[in-house]
Amino acid sequence: MIRDATEHDLPAIRAIYNDAVLNTTAIWNEQPVDLANRQAWFSARQAQQYPILVAVDNDEVTGYASFGDWRPFEGFRYSVEHSVYVRNDQRGKGLGPHLMQALIERARSCGKHVMVAAIESGNLASIRLHERLGFVTTGQMPQVGIKFGRWLDLTFMQLTLNPGAQPPKE
Ligand SMILES: CC(C)(COP(=O)(O)OP(=O)(O)OC[C@H]1O[C@@H](n2cnc3c(N)ncnc32)[C@H](O)[C@@H]1OP(=O)(O)O)[C@@H](O)C(=O)NCCC(=O)NCCS
Repeated sequence: MIRDATEHDLPAIRAIYNDAVLNTTAIWNEQPVDLANRQAWFSARQAQQYPILVAVDNDEVTGYASFGDWRPFEGFRYSVEHSVYVRNDQRGKGLGPHLMQALIERARSCGKHVMVAAIESGNLASIRLHERLGFVTTGQMPQVGIKFGRWLDLTFMQLTLNPGAQPPKE
């Protein structure tokens, strides 16, 4: 089941996030975060009316996905950057695609135009997942990151949510 997250889900979300921080190059932070950090993130998403979706199995959070502003300048207000994380013992079961399909629909209903994914170039599971959802690669940035003692390359992928749409009259 996929639903909107509540504050009660934050400890499980934090555990999934911190596992990715400590053990993967999916996120380029190195320090695990405390619950207050995830609460602040939850409140910020709520204030912007942006979704945090969780996949739930037997009352346990098995993954989550969310988006925020891509860049903090007015001209980028129709673009969002998302993240998707599946608990490490639940990967390869199709949860990531399910979360992403639901998130894409939410971005459309928020009136967004483009979703941006910034993916470590060696993260082939994520790149393939995004390709299957219709994302195309629009940028390659060699060696812009570092983690675990090596340079990391960044691949930008994007999905146009409503191709051909004219800019909204505001
Ligand atoms: C990337 C991610 C979201 C994909 O979600 P998922 O639910 O595993 O997606 P899928 O079930 O479609 O599987 C994706 C691929 O992983 C493979 N896979 C199978 N078992 C796996 C396992 N135990 N661990 C990792 N990947 C596995 C699948 O076969 C599939 O490979 P394919 O692309 O060749 O078909 C998930 O692996 C994840 O959370 N990874 C860590 C965080 C991350 O990278 N997030 C994205 C940041 S941009």
